Amino acid sequence: MLSKLLEKEINDQINYEFWSAQLYLSMSAHFADLGLPGFAHWMYIQYQEETTHAVKFFNYVIERGGKVQVQPIQEVSTVWDSILSVFKETMEHEQKVTTRINHLADTAVAEKDHATQSMLRWFIDEQVEEEANVKAIVDTLKLVKDNGYGIYALDKELATRVFIDNTQTGINA
Ligand SMILES: [Fe+2]
Ligand SMILES: [Fe+2]
Repeated sequence: MLSKLLEKEINDQINYEFWSAQLYLSMSAHFADLGLPGFAHWMYIQYQEETTHAVKFFNYVIERGGKVQVQPIQEVSTVWDSILSVFKETMEHEQKVTTRINHLADTAVAEKDHATQSMLRWFIDEQVEEEANVKAIVDTLKLVKDNGYGIYALDKELATRVFIDNTQTGINA
């Protein structure tokens, strides 16, 4: 059985993962509007991934005999002033998620909940991947700046990303 504190904190994280999904869906729409289908596609996969994260926590709470409280999703941004600013916001967002996952792990340790610590391992590893993937794109954007061909080439590259539900495979990538 989950402690009341962990039940509450994981419920908050379910909402936060859905909020992340909304944020990335909004970024995807923004890129589609700019005529950058590869960037839009990459963000759409982010949206799909965040949804699987929310569902992984959702199933875990139920499995441990807790109650999921589905909460309203806060509003997300819809406008950005550059491609780089979208990815800088993405990087800051993922760093914030990492801090939240670490806090959850601290609570699980304090509550002596070994099963939750084990479940959170997957998310801890996932965040390493998330931050590294976004950093690589930020670095490339800094390199190409406003070069049209550079943006075009990156758009083509991001279009090749394939969605894999890592919560099912158990492998973080
Ligand atoms: Fe996530
Ligand atoms: Fe994420």
